[in-house]
Amino acid sequence: MKNENPNMEVPTKEIIGELEYSLFRIGAFRAGIELHLWGKIASGEDTAAKIADQEGWDLAGARILLDAMCSLKLLSKEGDHYNLVPESAFYLVPGKPTYLGDLLLYEYHWDGNGRFSDIIRTGKRPMKDEATSPDLVPVWIADYSRRWTRPECYFEMEKSLWQSLDIQPRDGLRVLDIACGPAPHSMELARQHPGVRLTWVDWEEVLQTAVKVAGDLGIAGQISLLPGDLWSVDYGEELYEIAYLGDVSHFFGQDENTLLFHKVHTALVSGGVIVINSVARREIEEKVWDGLWLYVATASGGLYDFGEYKSMLESAGFTNVEDINKGPIRAEKT
Ligand SMILES: C[S@@+](CC[C@H](N)C(=O)[O-])C[C@H]1O[C@@H](n2cnc3c(N)ncnc32)[C@H](O)[C@@H]1O
Repeated sequence: MKNENPNMEVPTKEIIGELEYSLFRIGAFRAGIELHLWGKIASGEDTAAKIADQEGWDLAGARILLDAMCSLKLLSKEGDHYNLVPESAFYLVPGKPTYLGDLLLYEYHWDGNGRFSDIIRTGKRPMKDEATSPDLVPVWIADYSRRWTRPECYFEMEKSLWQSLDIQPRDGLRVLDIACGPAPHSMELARQHPGVRLTWVDWEEVLQTAVKVAGDLGIAGQISLLPGDLWSVDYGEELYEIAYLGDVSHFFGQDENTLLFHKVHTALVSGGVIVINSVARREIEEKVWDGLWLYVATASGGLYDFGEYKSMLESAGFTNVEDINKGPIRAEKT
């Protein structure tokens, strides 16, 4: 067989063994979510015996699962009693607005993962619902719920984003935020100056939830909505100084992005700026996993480098395309 040296030392099984263990860990974590384990502890069923007794579960099974969650650092143990830790109290207790269990159980993460080989063999994408389909609205809302409970935590980050782009909030600044989601980026600009006007594009239900947060922050009067599919919604002509596209361009193929950027170009005033910020451009170790996710979850999306974005933007009519510290990209309508 190629590359097989009969004198080589037998390699350890460490990497593969680690992966095998991850399968167990993930299986146990899934069981914990499905069984609402953290909710039971929050409601006082905090020993294996109490859970087995009140829920009718197998006692040995309840104990082994609780101990496994301690090993995952999602519970702690004192004697026979199990306690929530900050992460499980915040994210894993059903009924809380920050609960992520439904999102984690979303089938992409489970049955879908078992189908990677099919997709890779055939190239038939996406795996199930296209990541930009309205069917995913409940998934997006579940993902945003934690940001909406503590929006102020995100604003500090957003402030530095606008500073790095040299965009100052000012009277009359009109910002089009496309696929805005929880809209922390544009909301931060509006919070800084009462003269900033935002126009948000996203699915109706997503917008309504974001508007409620804007109301709590006292900036709802600065916001207009363009609900619906970002491809069919009319952005108008020469209406905005800034257009922001956060974490959405990686869902589309290069031709689609060029079309979208062209539509944005029409909507901007002369001298207007488009900002593209995509998780897939940030230098992070998980880049390869972002690539796999986009491959299975979209029909044509992917990770694009600065050169590819520059070419899409220039084809759409933009100039002065700039890479800001390998993060957001800024370009102008001149
Ligand atoms: C990854 S989130 C990004 C949210 C936000 N821009 C940010 O940077 O945090 C993608 C958003 O795009 C929206 N979206 C995806 N496809 C869309 C479409 N065809 N029409 C309108 N909104 C869409 C989703 O509803 C979701 O809120």
